[in-house]
Amino acid sequence: MIKDLEAPVLTNTRIGVNTFKMEIDTEIDLSREIKPGQFLMIKTVNFSDDPLLRRAFAIADVEGSKITLFYDVVGRGTKLLSLFKTGDKVKILLPLGKGTFPLSYEENVLIGGGIGMAGLTLLGKELLKRGKKVTVVYGAKTKRLLSMESFLRNLFEDVYIFTEDGSAGEKGYATDILNELTGKEVIHACGPMPMLKSLYNSRHKIFMSFESPMACGWGVCLGCVIKDKNNNFLRVCKEGPVFEKEKVMI
Ligand SMILES: Cc1cc2nc3c(=O)[nH]c(=O)nc-3n(C[C@H](O)[C@H](O)[C@H](O)COP(=O)(O)OP(=O)(O)OC[C@H]3O[C@@H](n4cnc5c(N)ncnc54)[C@H](O)[C@@H]3O)c2cc1C
Ligand code: FES
Repeated sequence: MIKDLEAPVLTNTRIGVNTFKMEIDTEIDLSREIKPGQFLMIKTVNFSDDPLLRRAFAIADVEGSKITLFYDVVGRGTKLLSLFKTGDKVKILLPLGKGTFPLSYEENVLIGGGIGMAGLTLLGKELLKRGKKVTVVYGAKTKRLLSMESFLRNLFEDVYIFTEDGSAGEKGYATDILNELTGKEVIHACGPMPMLKSLYNSRHKIFMSFESPMACGWGVCLGCVIKDKNNNFLRVCKEGPVFEKEKVMI
């Protein structure tokens, strides 16, 4: 069931040039309720109604009542979010999204582009718990934008890094990993649209998490739609945010 909570911020720490990690205490254990791929909507101010609309963020981790988000400061809402201090309360709506990642495949490759990596970490943890094989591929433009690397290395053994300028890991795009796969793996991807488009024509089985701009987050405004193969609208916030590649047109 979707919960509308006012929850205290535990930490809100800058971990990279423009990236923050926020931990929130939901004060109730949500670890059984939150499925990999689900997200929350958060009000980025708690003292006024401007900006009015909540912003969407992937639930990157959940341990008991503690949830973790990673976010890039890209505009006004995320700038305001970065000002929250320990003990401040945030208004959150969660868990959102019915389309979640599957947990049943044996060999899994998680491809995260930039902050999109945050949409895959909970999935990786849950797959490992189930004894599945997990390879994590994290791509960014350059080394200083690899803000989530230490978080990933703490959780996963198999982590491959790609940077576009070659300043860390392999030079190239995270999607270049496709050249090295056997074909048995299932891919789970989250990142910028050009990255998802480049995966779209691959012959692999792929589940993609979309981060379309959202206004309501729970299926009412139709602001987040993409199309399926029959030209019907799919609400990313409600039917997604995760879709199997074969079901959508991008
Ligand atoms: C399901 C979902 C999960 C998300 N998870 C994360 C996450 O874990 N971490 C994270 O940093 N961001 C995530 N996003 C994107 C995040 O919601 C936006 O970055 C945020 O709303 C921007 O708010 P703002 O007020 O700072 O920027 P705005 O002032 O609203 O916009 C600033 C710039 O960011 C662009 N922008 C706005 N929304 C998006 C979006 N959804 N995707 C790409 N560009 C956008 C705008 O076009 C503009 O160029 C997610 C989005 C969705 C829908
Ligand atoms: S954001 Fe309103 S319907 Fe998806």
